[in-house]
Amino acid sequence: MNYSLQGKAAIVTGAAGGIGSAIARAFMQAGAKVACVDLEASKAPAGSLAIKCDVSSEADTRAAVEQAVKAYGGLHLLVNAAAMRDPSATVTDLDLAGWNRVFAVNVGGAFLMSRWTIPHMVKAGGGSIIHIASQLGTVGTARRVDQGRAHHHGQGDGGRPRRAEDPRQHALARGRGDRAHAAAFRHDGEGAGGHGTQTPIGTIRDA
Ligand SMILES: NC(=O)c1ccc[n+]([C@@H]2O[C@H](COP(=O)([O-])OP(=O)(O)OC[C@H]3O[C@@H](n4cnc5c(N)ncnc54)[C@H](O)[C@@H]3O)[C@@H](O)[C@H]2O)c1
Repeated sequence: MNYSLQGKAAIVTGAAGGIGSAIARAFMQAGAKVACVDLEASKAPAGSLAIKCDVSSEADTRAAVEQAVKAYGGLHLLVNAAAMRDPSATVTDLDLAGWNRVFAVNVGGAFLMSRWTIPHMVKAGGGSIIHIASQLGTVGTARRVDQGRAHHHGQGDGGRPRRAEDPRQHALARGRGDRAHAAAFRHDGEGAGGHGTQTPIGTIRDA
């Protein structure tokens, strides 16, 4: 261990699971106070503040963040590792409710936790948010289309078919290049040039 998180307070979601629990333990070893948020809070690592919460629920996530802030006085770190998938899912047999549920947890959960946490990070003078994603966001695997799509927010080819006769799928993930968007960025005070330098393929144009 060559880093210290002494004096820092963290929330780790999915902290009863494989990746989340390993991160929560590592943060605690580095000196952080860690609130572990999970549906199965009783399985959270010892020494953490276990909080039972459904990350797809606005009320649950808000209450979880408030509980952590009350216990630690502030927040500096958020790890979004809570995730689910429908193990039987292909594009042709997954129903909309199943698709929406995965997005509500894997994407909506990260949004909600960030939403409630960011004001406390700002108050603390800064912080870090880490979203645990997967290579399934850009490469496909059979029967895990919803998880792959959720990881890449609809981009990539997370639903890549495995049979030669299956249709190929493509997605374009371009930068913002149109005049209206560039103007909007400038209006925000960010500056189109600033965003251009942050866009890997540099597609942003001046309006
Ligand atoms: N395990 C791997 O090899 C691997 C590899 C690459 C990426 N990932 C990604 O990392 C993330 C975590 O993977 P993992 O292997 O730790 O999964 P896991 O199944 O071990 O843990 C997920 C945790 O999320 C919790 N959870 C599920 N739905 C929830 C909800 N609505 N509210 C709160 N908690 C909820 C579960 O109870 C569980 O404890 C996933 O997004 C996964 O795709 C995993």
